[in-house]
Amino acid sequence: MSSKKVLITRLIPGIAKTMLTNAGLEVMEWQGDGPMTQQELITQTKQVNALLSLGADKLDKYFFSQCAHLDIIGQFAVGYDNIDIEAASLAGIPVSNTPDVLSEATADVAFGLMMAVSRKMFYNHKTIIRGEWKQFEPLKNLGFQLSGKTLGIFGMGRIGMVMAKRCKGAFDMNIIYHNRTRNREAEMRYGATYVSFEELIRESDVLSVHSVLSEETRGLFNREVFNQMKPSSIFINTSRGGVHNEADLIEALTKGSIWGAGLDVTNPEPMKPNNPLLEMPNVAVLPHIGSATVEARNGMARLAANNIISFYRDGSVPNCINPKVLKTPG
Ligand code: DGY
Repeated sequence: MSSKKVLITRLIPGIAKTMLTNAGLEVMEWQGDGPMTQQELITQTKQVNALLSLGADKLDKYFFSQCAHLDIIGQFAVGYDNIDIEAASLAGIPVSNTPDVLSEATADVAFGLMMAVSRKMFYNHKTIIRGEWKQFEPLKNLGFQLSGKTLGIFGMGRIGMVMAKRCKGAFDMNIIYHNRTRNREAEMRYGATYVSFEELIRESDVLSVHSVLSEETRGLFNREVFNQMKPSSIFINTSRGGVHNEADLIEALTKGSIWGAGLDVTNPEPMKPNNPLLEMPNVAVLPHIGSATVEARNGMARLAANNIISFYRDGSVPNCINPKVLKTPG
């Protein structure tokens, strides 16, 4: 495999480069402070055989029409909504992602946002900075307790499972979930109950989104859905901003259709500093830091590199999203 070249599209933990180099691959690293433009990405990709990509890289039909020569793509993320998987498959290119290694980190952010919103933490922090903390307030800044409340999980995959575990353990929350398929493990371990989507939105005190962004989920959490949620409920999204409609979310919070929201992902990203959500007392927003722990990012770098190395070693790709294109099923 000595003549194969891999392009890493942003600076990521060095372990990826070390692993790829040790496996005999030549590594090119984009040194820029941000993602490449698509044209730049195409120009750079034409010089390599494999891509270690990030979520901001636009790998759409046009990209694949220009870069059909690629042997493999190792995405440094669990999400891959930036990649047109059908176009990659048509070009015969296996695409892989980095599941599991970021589940704890991402669920921790969902859990943290839930806590922050339920006690208006971000807002109260800002009141100190603004010099508004004058005395103890018996009737102001009241949040509510999470103990015994109902947590609704939309998307009971790996991250949803960790969120369920956290919430069961910390607050003995009643867990309900909606998923494409039943998750018996979540039912057994955390007493989670499978419910319809309608029941999920009606019954949840906290509704936490852990689904992928797909044609079915794009814009799913909109005015109609928020209107059916409890006025006392909290909406948490740590998956992809595209799953909620941000204008409808702002309206729901303003009208009181729901009580609060915690977002690690926004629509669009990055969120503008003058976004009204940032001034709302019952809202907490973070800049897409779900996987931002040393452990998770090193794990992602390892998995992404390993998917590429395995492919060149024996044709297998452990975390392949489109395994049909593999000669040796991954
Ligand atoms: C992921 O892995 O999908 C995270 O959102 C980081 O992009």
